[in-house]
Amino acid sequence: MARGTGTSKAKTNTKGFWGKSEVFAFRVPRPYKNMEIISDIKAMQNRCLAARDSGQKISFVPTMGFLHEGHLSLLREGRKRGDLLILSIFVNPTQFGQGEDLDCYPRDFERDEAMARECGVDLLFYPEAEAIYPPGYATYVSVDGPLTTTLEGACRPTHFRGVTTVVTKLFNIVMPHVALFGRKDFQQLAVISRMTSDLNLPIDIVGMPIIREEDGLAMSSRNVYLCNSERKQALALNDTLRQTAEMAQNGESNAEKILTMAQGRLHAEADLEIDYVKICNAQSLEEVNTIDHESVILLAVSVGKTRLIDNGNLIS
Ligand code: PAJ
Repeated sequence: MARGTGTSKAKTNTKGFWGKSEVFAFRVPRPYKNMEIISDIKAMQNRCLAARDSGQKISFVPTMGFLHEGHLSLLREGRKRGDLLILSIFVNPTQFGQGEDLDCYPRDFERDEAMARECGVDLLFYPEAEAIYPPGYATYVSVDGPLTTTLEGACRPTHFRGVTTVVTKLFNIVMPHVALFGRKDFQQLAVISRMTSDLNLPIDIVGMPIIREEDGLAMSSRNVYLCNSERKQALALNDTLRQTAEMAQNGESNAEKILTMAQGRLHAEADLEIDYVKICNAQSLEEVNTIDHESVILLAVSVGKTRLIDNGNLIS
């Protein structure tokens, strides 16, 4: 499908960052019932400024597309929390490391578009990589310290810099009042919350529960990479979370003992390689020795060539 060119007739005065614009953007009608698709950054900003000017509350769900029920749960909640629901689909090159799956990341715009419309999305932002990162692009946003250097950050050293850079850019384009993120990417949510607070961005960050397949596998766009036998072995992640939570509920508070059990369970799968299994404080993401209500167990494994992450509370 061709990208929407956006509001080709848009004309705004963008004085006052995130503030009132004096001239409203007006849109060329598109053939999409109840959903606009905009690719042009300036047109998107103008559209969002006009919405803010008219008093609409903007809720925003950033994604990399190939939508599933996990994404849709964010959209449904976003629908309730705002007047204008905006979805972005952008496979962000700066958050992929060398040798990662940027080139083969699953994409299906037609399907995403239909699902978005079904969920009541008002505006779909679908920019080109060259527009987000034009030649000469040189500015990055990064959150320092253990929040970005442990867990995913240790395995993927440039990942969070890419995430925080693109999310900041998307926030500046969409200017949302509220933005929704899944706890499936627990560390990402913590990093974005930190960044939003540190930079005084006037955006309410909402964390949403993990949505799972019926058999317990956390939904992920990357699950399509799994062959049947890998798919079965991937169930060990949720099984491990279940068993560790059971252990904790039965009174075990020693993190090392719980981790030993977790590693044993994951090692039982032939094609599964552990990247990390850690028990951390949910706020600081620092490792803990003794678990409490704030403890979360985080897992990252490779099943064949597919990298999967999952997490869960130990004491609910
Ligand atoms: P993506 O992997 O497409 O995920 C978009 C959002 O959906 C994230 O907030 C993610 O945590 C949430 N999500 C994914 N699977 C979920 C599940 N099973 N249950 C609940 N929520 C789930 O995360 C990204 O894209 C990117 O890093 C992005 C933030 C868009 C920046 O490029």
